[in-house]
Amino acid sequence: MLLRVFLLSLFASTKAVRIDEDYSLKESEDEADITRLESSRYETPKKNCSRDIQIIDKLLNGTGYNKFRIPTEDGVKVTVEFWIQAITTIDEITNDFEMDIYINEMWLDPALCFEHLNPCKQNLSLNHQVLERLWTPNSCFINSKIAQIHDSPFKNIFLMLYPNGTVWVNYRTRVKGPCQMDLSNFPMDVQKCNLIYESFNYNKQEVQMSWAPSKFDPDTGKMIAPIQILGDIVLPDYDLLAYTAVAKELEYPAGMWDELHFELVFERRYIWYFMQAYLPTYLTIFISWVSFSLGPRAIPARTMLGVNALLAMIFQFGNIMRNLPRVSYIKAIDVWMLVSMTFIFCSLLELAIVGFKVKDEQPGKKKHTICKKVETAFESSPPGLCRYDERYMLPLDRKSLASYRIHLPQWPPAFVNWPPEKIDTIASMLFPTLFAIFNIVYWSFYTQRKSEMKLNLTSSI
Ligand SMILES: *[C@@H]1O[C@H](CO)[C@@H](O)[C@H](O)[C@H]1NC(C)=O
Ligand SMILES: *[C@@H]1O[C@H](CO)[C@@H](O)[C@H](O)[C@H]1NC(C)=O
Ligand SMILES: *[C@@H]1O[C@H](CO)[C@@H](O)[C@H](O)[C@H]1NC(C)=O
Ligand SMILES: *[C@@H]1O[C@H](CO)[C@@H](O)[C@H](O)[C@H]1NC(C)=O
Ligand SMILES: *[C@@H]1O[C@H](CO)[C@@H](O)[C@H](O)[C@H]1NC(C)=O
Repeated sequence: MLLRVFLLSLFASTKAVRIDEDYSLKESEDEADITRLESSRYETPKKNCSRDIQIIDKLLNGTGYNKFRIPTEDGVKVTVEFWIQAITTIDEITNDFEMDIYINEMWLDPALCFEHLNPCKQNLSLNHQVLERLWTPNSCFINSKIAQIHDSPFKNIFLMLYPNGTVWVNYRTRVKGPCQMDLSNFPMDVQKCNLIYESFNYNKQEVQMSWAPSKFDPDTGKMIAPIQILGDIVLPDYDLLAYTAVAKELEYPAGMWDELHFELVFERRYIWYFMQAYLPTYLTIFISWVSFSLGPRAIPARTMLGVNALLAMIFQFGNIMRNLPRVSYIKAIDVWMLVSMTFIFCSLLELAIVGFKVKDEQPGKKKHTICKKVETAFESSPPGLCRYDERYMLPLDRKSLASYRIHLPQWPPAFVNWPPEKIDTIASMLFPTLFAIFNIVYWSFYTQRKSEMKLNLTSSI
């Protein structure tokens, strides 16, 4: 029995040894492959150079590297660069904008210097697992609504170490930042959005943040700013007018902090609003003027025109307003819509006057019969007084009428006696003239205001 156990264990151990041998053999072959590959990739292969993993192990394992200790006692200088990949939305309702952005941070960590280790490469490209073992400035957007590092299929973090200890970290993030929406000039408006980037934990004594200095790129002959736009920014309803990067210093209860401010100014493309709001309003108003040339007898047709125009206008107004926040000040489009509605309302009022005149002019048979009835009903009433015949309940005799005229010489004024045709003719000239004047005033005021706003926003940044 004992012998059997001994034999079994012996067998097992020899097997294990064989496996071990196989494994180590294979690994050494792999290593040879890799070194061969590396030496073929780089033209000047260094003998006995240290590979990435060895360097990382030598730097971080057992050297007493502490990720919670600030690399240099007198403060770390962190330079920041943003590369804007895309700006996806600007939302008026929630007052924010969203963009995909690469955040680049660079600092010097002397503890990570590996020049003395005879590295095979001039830089090490690493991933987020190594970054988790390094000191970082813990910076973030302090005014963002949402900020996340893209993590599909893995965390989009790039880390590069230089032999002199410089660390370069690049995060690909999606940020939702606030916009200071001022819709008073809507839809001819200009909007400003901003983001503030700073170290969350370390104050100015510990971390000095700054935008990377502009570099000269000899390939393209241009200056590379700390903020770069990769590709074109295409938004359906805005154009990116300007953007800027400024560094500010701000006092908090815990000390002074370096803040990096990034501001964007957007200009709305108002073509969509012109097509959806202004153009239909013009047509509706022009149609309401057709009513003046239909003649004073076409009351039902004219009523229909006017009321339909008013309803169409209210519907258009509602449609535009639905996608805007309920601000309590007057927007440019409110002025436009309300004045346009007033024009249509006034054309309906004109129709009412014309209709009244027409009714007044018609020989009223009905009135006489009613009057007779009334006279018979109220036998006690003085002769010649009829409630329906005379508007002012005055006796019909000329003397009293004359005395009435003397009493109020200015009333009724002359235009009350104008025939309905004349009222229509005057309205058909007065309405377009007033509308043209309104257009000139409106467009010149708001375009002037827009250029002033543009200047205000772009000069402040
Ligand atoms: C390479 O390393 C081996 C042992 O680690 C050493 O014997 C050899 O001298 C080294 N060669 C050079 C060129 O440094
Ligand atoms: C550090 O080195 C020790 C051996 O020296 C090893 O057991 C350990 O797994 C290493 N740690 C890391 C994180 O590589
Ligand atoms: C990293 O090193 C490689 C060669 O090892 C070089 O081609 C590349 O330009 C370096 N990258 C940077 C950003 O320095
Ligand atoms: C470290 O090396 C990088 C890349 O070669 C260089 O850009 C940087 O200026 C160096 N930093 C220092 C402090 O020498
Ligand atoms: C532009 O700025 C000036 C001075 O700050 C201010 O008085 C003016 O109202 C601003 N204009 C607009 C359109 O906001």
